[in-house]
Amino acid sequence: MATMTSIFNVLFLFFTFFPFAKSIDFNFSAVFNFGDSNSDTGNLISGGFESIDPPYGQIYFHTPSGRYCDGRLIVDFLMDAMDMPFLNAYLDSIGAPIFRRGCNFAAAGSTILPANPTSVSPFSFGVQVSQFIRFKSRVLELLSQGKKFAKYIPAEDYFSKGLYMFDIGQNDLAGAFYSKSLDQILASIPTILAEFETGIKRLYDEEARNFWIHNTGPLGCLTQNVAKFGTDPSKLDQQGCVSGHNQAAQLFNLQLQALCKKLQGQYTDTNFIYVDIYTIKSNLIANYSRYGFEQPIMACCGYGGAPLNYDSRIVCGQTKVLNGTTVTANGCSDSTEYVNWDGIHYTEAANEFVSSQILTGKYSDPPFTNKMPFLLKIKY
Ligand SMILES: *[C@@H]1O[C@H](CO)[C@@H](O)[C@H](O)[C@H]1NC(C)=O
Ligand SMILES: *[C@@H]1O[C@H](CO)[C@@H](O)[C@H](O)[C@H]1NC(C)=O
Ligand SMILES: *[C@@H]1O[C@H](CO)[C@@H](O)[C@H](O)[C@H]1NC(C)=O
Repeated sequence: MATMTSIFNVLFLFFTFFPFAKSIDFNFSAVFNFGDSNSDTGNLISGGFESIDPPYGQIYFHTPSGRYCDGRLIVDFLMDAMDMPFLNAYLDSIGAPIFRRGCNFAAAGSTILPANPTSVSPFSFGVQVSQFIRFKSRVLELLSQGKKFAKYIPAEDYFSKGLYMFDIGQNDLAGAFYSKSLDQILASIPTILAEFETGIKRLYDEEARNFWIHNTGPLGCLTQNVAKFGTDPSKLDQQGCVSGHNQAAQLFNLQLQALCKKLQGQYTDTNFIYVDIYTIKSNLIANYSRYGFEQPIMACCGYGGAPLNYDSRIVCGQTKVLNGTTVTANGCSDSTEYVNWDGIHYTEAANEFVSSQILTGKYSDPPFTNKMPFLLKIKY
């Protein structure tokens, strides 16, 4: 009986997770990624602003790897699906920094709006775009010197044919809740998006033509926000998420989608793909057991135990003295049962689910079609 059930579950999970994933072939020469910890593959750590300890990275890289996760991020799964190697972080200069198929400028803690002295990351969106411009001009300079570096850096036409991916905005909203009212935050969204638009236009001026933009997830479901802002049960929705945070995320997403439409209309030689991460993640959190998870909100790696296993004073992997007692924020025994890894970031298992849903093409606007020059062979 148990075996029958688990075979059924495996088949069920297979078809729910990978309905069409294998049937889309992408044809991008390179990927340039911009964002925050949701897609940082090592910039904040390489920049020397923070360090992370095990159990970060435990399930896949077997070392913290610079990612705020137990394993792979959504961007890693997407690179895999596009038959490309994982993106190297721009600031990661040790080892074998090969940027042939692109470069990652995302850094944990980054915001769209310019960083201030209390920001976790100085690499706000405008800075990431400036880093890209510097990267591109260095590449062109090296290419002009002959073939010596060709296998490490993009070819000249990769900049116009490559994919530009974005996952940023979460920290602008989540950070604001510590000092502003919900109304103030909602009113600030156009200013945040105006700054985003400025960055997109700078990239367009640098020949970027394929834009793939993730909207922001249900911030109110992150353990950290439930712990800090959800102590009054009237502030929580049916799923146990903080309503105000999710309301801000949804308004941000509506305006982001409208911006993508506007830019698509202005730049007829571009492809703008808006991806609805919010819907995928909220479906995962509401229907977690159907997708093979046991904990939608509680952090796998943290301190304090159920119901949240989160304590803002002690980060996943750290040991500290609290009230005279030495305590450690440890990982749970099986992170694949958890949606949330460390209170702020998703587990690899959750990231794999989200990526598989993105790859169905059902959550993008416009939906994937064979008319997109970089999407070959879509079989539904
Ligand atoms: C893939 O894209 C490149 C240009 O970026 C193009 O030359 C090539 O023909 C494309 N491949 C297919 C199979 O369409
Ligand atoms: C949960 O699943 C049900 C049934 O498929 C669906 O109608 C609902 O929208 C899902 N919940 C969320 C928040 O996506
Ligand atoms: C520390 O002490 C406070 C007040 O007695 C208590 O609420 C809290 O749970 C204690 N924390 C730890 C880590 O034991």
